[in-house]
Amino acid sequence: MTAAAPLGSKANPIAFDHESPAYAANWADEYRTIRESACPIAWSGAHGGYFVPSRYRDIVAIAQDSQTFSSAKHVDVATGEVTGGVLIPTIPFPTAYPIETDRPVWDAYRNFINRRFAPKAAEARRDFARAHASLLLDQVIETGAIDFVADLTGPLPAIVTMDLMGLPLADWRDFAEPLHEIVYTPKESPEFVAVAARFQAMFDRCLVELERYRNLPPEDNLLSLFAHAPFEGRRLTDDEVLGYCNNILAGGVDTTTALTTNVLAYLWRNPNEKRRLIDDPMLLPTAREEFVRFFAPQHAVARNCTRDTEVGGIPIAAGDRVYMPWGAGNRDPEIFDDPDRIDLARFPNRHIGFGAGAHRCVGSFIARAMFEEMIKAVLTRIPEYVIDLDSARRYRSIGTINGWMNMPATFAPGMRLSPAALG
Ligand code: HEM
Repeated sequence: MTAAAPLGSKANPIAFDHESPAYAANWADEYRTIRESACPIAWSGAHGGYFVPSRYRDIVAIAQDSQTFSSAKHVDVATGEVTGGVLIPTIPFPTAYPIETDRPVWDAYRNFINRRFAPKAAEARRDFARAHASLLLDQVIETGAIDFVADLTGPLPAIVTMDLMGLPLADWRDFAEPLHEIVYTPKESPEFVAVAARFQAMFDRCLVELERYRNLPPEDNLLSLFAHAPFEGRRLTDDEVLGYCNNILAGGVDTTTALTTNVLAYLWRNPNEKRRLIDDPMLLPTAREEFVRFFAPQHAVARNCTRDTEVGGIPIAAGDRVYMPWGAGNRDPEIFDDPDRIDLARFPNRHIGFGAGAHRCVGSFIARAMFEEMIKAVLTRIPEYVIDLDSARRYRSIGTINGWMNMPATFAPGMRLSPAALG
């Protein structure tokens, strides 16, 4: 009698689907089980099959070997078939730049935008973020009711990212809504077609704005940079610009929304921790990193194996896809003491919530500033908010972004700080 193949090997896949409701409810437990099993890099048969590493060290090793584990997306010109890229399942949107490219091509695309995201550039956006967080709260403060996602954590990152891009701020809803829908709608569901059409309309709008900037003198925003600055001695093509728009809008808008919304729920459930943060604002930087670790708002991406190899004793073959759950690495007890507990003062904190290796998040400094300004605005102006958790809904699928669709809350009404209204 031959021994059964170990659970998690290709011959005996685990029941795992990062887009399923079961995953959304129990992801940390699912990774604990995989981590402690005979196959800590397990094979799931869902979505055409993919590996699921669960240990910090394996996820980091894969992220740091971008020659073997490619992010590149390929579109077959003849058939239109899309393969590779950083999403499982693959979706037919423009290749995202720089995230869906590999070195050395990646270096050129990343270097082209790096300066706009550097710590100093991010800090320069803080006042804008603070002012808009305040204006957003002004819109609801007299009513005593807020939907955190619709009224604050969704709009603020959308407005800041659109400002960075040079997109018209008054139309932020046309961008924020498709960017939310695209991440929580399962890619194989019937609704996805309509969602994808709205997402596409957003790109069409980006092209209109790009053309406008091409006919204007250079301005200090990314679309104007894309319109005017020479890239390797030539002008960027429309497809390349759309690739940047895809990456920067998707990266900028929903991730910080998810982080801040999770944190507002956590602080409401843990009033003593909220009080600590209010009484000691110096805790905010370590708390912020701990929240990124714990919630892993950009939950995972994917890689595509380019040659037969082995990681952590598990063979991975050329052509295999690998799901890269930053959230699993962030809960690995080999690296983090008591990983399932939030410690506002955790330091050092080697979390991989902003990724690891070359593709590490370019927007992390802007994200930190936006998060801090939203949390400070809430803790200063409506600290005693009460969330209606029974009405709040998490994303149906959290396998890409660990976010919330809505989060209604009430508070003691207060006074506006500014007479100005938002568009
Ligand atoms: C809390 C908020 C955020 C989190 C948790 C987050 C997380 C991540 C992670 C994990 C990666 C690595 C992906 C990979 O390895 O393939 C990444 C890359 C990226 N992020 Fe963020 N992100 C956040 C906010 C932002 C913001 C605000 C922007 C832009 C305004 C942004 C733009 C990008 C871009 C362009 C990349 C691709 C970088 C490259 O490929 O070189 N992100 N992000």
